[in-house]
Amino acid sequence: MAIAAYLLGSISSAVLICRVFRLPDPRHSGSGNPGATNVLRLGGKLPAILVLLCDILKGTIPVWGCYFLGLSPWALAAIGVAATLGHIYPIFFGFDGGKGVATALGAIAPIGWELLLALAITWLVVALITRYSSLAAIISCGLAPLFTFFFKAQYTGSVSVLIALILWRHRDNFIRLYKGTEPKLGTKRTTAP
Ligand code: G3P
Repeated sequence: MAIAAYLLGSISSAVLICRVFRLPDPRHSGSGNPGATNVLRLGGKLPAILVLLCDILKGTIPVWGCYFLGLSPWALAAIGVAATLGHIYPIFFGFDGGKGVATALGAIAPIGWELLLALAITWLVVALITRYSSLAAIISCGLAPLFTFFFKAQYTGSVSVLIALILWRHRDNFIRLYKGTEPKLGTKRTTAP
């Protein structure tokens, strides 16, 4: 099941949707990240929303399926991590993937709507105030273990593993935020930094 989750996660919706919309390859344009934020920069709202939905489903479908099979929190975490690893290191796209935020959010979603709502509100508030998608992701991910402990404590460990992976993938964003070179939401850019 973990292998199936990894293979599903490996389908890079950002690259495929950019091809359908005849947009530049997101791995070589904008921030260079094949994710919804970068597709928003490159092609606007419609392709970005489609990428976001597909990336979320890549996490939700395998975890939800296994949740109904009655697997333990740690087994579900392994499925969620496998799907997210597929997104980050996709076997079908030269292991050159995204940062895993949407796929991890999709994997966390079956834990409960309260947790999902808390994460989505945190992301939205930070994004609206700062206009930085990466900072919104970093702060909501940073708070995710705390929210999980509050709503469904038994999943805190597994969510923390997933979050550690995503924060590690944002190391370039940390540097750009520190240097003040991180592009804000709404900024169009086609050259990789
Ligand atoms: O979810 C990815 C986002 O946090 C940052 O994306 O394209 O600005 O590196 P990007």
